[in-house]
Amino acid sequence: MSSSTTPPSSPFLPGPGPHPETGPPPPPPRTAAVIPAAGRGVRLGPGAPKALRTLNGTPMLVHAVRAMARSRAVSLVVVVAPPDGAAEVRTLLDDHALPSTTEVAVVPGGSTRQESVSLGLAALPADITDVLVHDAARPLVPAETVDAVAAAVRGGAPAVVPALPLADTVKEVDPRTDGGPETVLGTPERARLRAVQTPQGFNRETLARAHEKAAPEGEGATDDAGLVERLGLPVVVVPGHEEAFKVTRPLDLVLAEAVLARRRATDGF
Ligand code: CTP
Ligand code: MG
Repeated sequence: MSSSTTPPSSPFLPGPGPHPETGPPPPPPRTAAVIPAAGRGVRLGPGAPKALRTLNGTPMLVHAVRAMARSRAVSLVVVVAPPDGAAEVRTLLDDHALPSTTEVAVVPGGSTRQESVSLGLAALPADITDVLVHDAARPLVPAETVDAVAAAVRGGAPAVVPALPLADTVKEVDPRTDGGPETVLGTPERARLRAVQTPQGFNRETLARAHEKAAPEGEGATDDAGLVERLGLPVVVVPGHEEAFKVTRPLDLVLAEAVLARRRATDGF
């Protein structure tokens, strides 16, 4: 079916002709990934810093850098190393094959995740417009998840999180550290909850502002999007992926190696 009517003009869309009040065009988008990898991995038990522990012989951090570099959107990866381990991490990355189209920089981190991410952001060159923040501890995130986050940021969202519905019901409790029984305070409706993963994607200027405003003391934020929420800006959700789980406890190492074995069996990777 055809129609000869022209669409109504919108007051929000610029028509043809010059718009002197809009100023210069925005810079072309350029996306960097910041990978906080400075944690010790206390919950994983004694051993090397978590990001340097291996999965099927390859350090978790190398898996994570490859996962970011595999996304066509990402042209720079900034790895935030343990404060005293930047040289060791640089050597480790130089010893492993990484896509040559992606530049990889290493900077020393801090004592909280929030501080480590701030140090990574401070190392970004001026032409970076978009940032993905990705935990080294999520080494197996699929490329489709990275691409979906990067695309949503390029589409204009100031902050994007990949997220999944929860399997478990969640209780809010009055926490106790003395080993005594904790009292349940409430049960949030599970259908309204999401478990968020990384990479979380941001307009670079928005994330820098969020980190500047956040208090540097204390435990620090476990999540960058939460800092953007405090600015009153919208954070949008894209579908997460079960393979983007965080390696936190010893059993997660078993799961991660099983995922790698399944990939090798199914696509010969
Ligand atoms: N991280 C960081 N700097 C810190 C603490 C954490 O860069 N000072 C990073 C970790 O390396 C990890 C990510 O933040 O990639 C998510 O943190 P988490 O899973 O808690 O890792 P760890 O802090 O290393 O583990 P744990 O809390 O068990 O000690
Ligand atoms: Mg931690």
